[in-house]
Amino acid sequence: MSDFNPLNLPLVLLSNRGPVSFDRDTTGRTVGRGAGGLVSALSGLAEHLDDAVWVCGAASEEDTAVAGENPDSSIVVQTHPQPHLIVDGEPDGPAIRVRLVVTDPTAYADFYSVWSNPILWFIQHGLYGRSLSPVLTQAEHDAFENGYAAVNRAYADAVVSEVRARGGKALVLLQDYHFYLVADWVREQCPDVVLTHFVHIPWPGPDEWRILPEDIRQRLLRGLLGSDVVGFHTRRYARNFVLCAAELLGLPVDLERLTVTVGDRVVRARYYPISVDPAALDATQASGEVAAHVAMLRYLFLDHDRQLILRVDRTDPSKNVVRGFIAFGILLDQHPELVGKVSFLALLQPSRTDVPEYADYIALIGGVVAEINARHTKEGRQPIDLRMVEDFPLAVAAYSICDVLIVNAIADGMNLVAKEVAVVNRRGGVLALSEMAGAHEELGEFAVTLQPFDVQQMADALYTALTMPMEERHRRLAAAAEQVRTHDVRRWLDDQVVDLRRIAGFV
Ligand code: G6P
Repeated sequence: MSDFNPLNLPLVLLSNRGPVSFDRDTTGRTVGRGAGGLVSALSGLAEHLDDAVWVCGAASEEDTAVAGENPDSSIVVQTHPQPHLIVDGEPDGPAIRVRLVVTDPTAYADFYSVWSNPILWFIQHGLYGRSLSPVLTQAEHDAFENGYAAVNRAYADAVVSEVRARGGKALVLLQDYHFYLVADWVREQCPDVVLTHFVHIPWPGPDEWRILPEDIRQRLLRGLLGSDVVGFHTRRYARNFVLCAAELLGLPVDLERLTVTVGDRVVRARYYPISVDPAALDATQASGEVAAHVAMLRYLFLDHDRQLILRVDRTDPSKNVVRGFIAFGILLDQHPELVGKVSFLALLQPSRTDVPEYADYIALIGGVVAEINARHTKEGRQPIDLRMVEDFPLAVAAYSICDVLIVNAIADGMNLVAKEVAVVNRRGGVLALSEMAGAHEELGEFAVTLQPFDVQQMADALYTALTMPMEERHRRLAAAAEQVRTHDVRRWLDDQVVDLRRIAGFV
């Protein structure tokens, strides 16, 4: 991993989802590794530093039991070769120190299922229809105070105690929209920290934030401004953040240098596009499990010159799955010669089903797929194969052989699936990429651009992708792969270090 910490400070990380999670089976306690790009990027980092601790939520019953056995302290989990909890002695392989935070379940539900996921997520992805939603009542005000703010306070206290245990000086890396109130509280109690907060989702302009009550939006912004650096994936999001500080808080800002002056401090908005670990992807692709999936997928979808469109997403309304299928239906209506020749494989992970909007969205997806399959089944073959699974080896197999990847998000902080496909695809796969995905800034020139609300445009773009000459397909894919391989996740971290060194006065 990178020489990430030349500041020579201990590291305290905070995210809602942690790097490991405990469970129980017939053999007793088991430990699994957390999934997802963020966790793997930061796990590599935390495993390689002498003094790092990762503060995160107790996500399972067994996590809560482990936390109860180690009150107000961290635990050490060896991550390789077999993940296990270190009870006595020292690990003899890579290990992560983890502080599991347990909060009251009702407060956590208000934090996660009322504020973080519907309200903040919907505002930041522009998902509210506004004519009828949201409706913010006293219940939401209470859920902010007793849920979002209370849970933020509990995590901030855990961060503070870990910083104090390290003499009050640490590099603190806060992650994502769950914790907008934490930076300010930590700075108040530990003024010597170097603190960055990375926002992994889009940051819209001031008018979107005006949906929220004035005191709440101001507290969220003030909270974030406790950081030295607020990190985003794109310049557009960073600029929007600075605009919000000017318009919603009346603070002095510099829109060119992307800075906000808060009292005697200067807070910097920066952008660092997150990426993937190409070596880890190459290793997964080379595995026997992926090879077996590839053989099966080829048999199912690619015999006799047939073609495959792929999507891999969480069932999140921001991913725009329903309009993606509608566009595919239009493509088949307008190009009947493609019926029976093009399949659409959708690997969707059910997500946040405790949030009503998400549960409703899954039902809508099922409905539109049934309708299109009924309309376009030919010789017993249905055009859409919808699978509700989370299976990374299967996804990598599908990445490697698809003709087109569709990413038509309404808004997406980055979208790592597009980057994974660029690295892994061996078939001249075309990226059909929403102009609203952060990844479009880097990969748009090699992709076919999608306008996520215009189903006719998306149908036309899918047609362009499917009929693009092979040579052009391979040229674009090679260029996209080169971009991702030279801007990998290590670079994402290293670029942040360079800035932090400058800010902390090390250069
Ligand atoms: C996005 C967010 C992450 C979040 C992930 C999965 O990528 O940026 O912070 O962990 O979605 O969502 P979940 O609610 O399941 O943690």
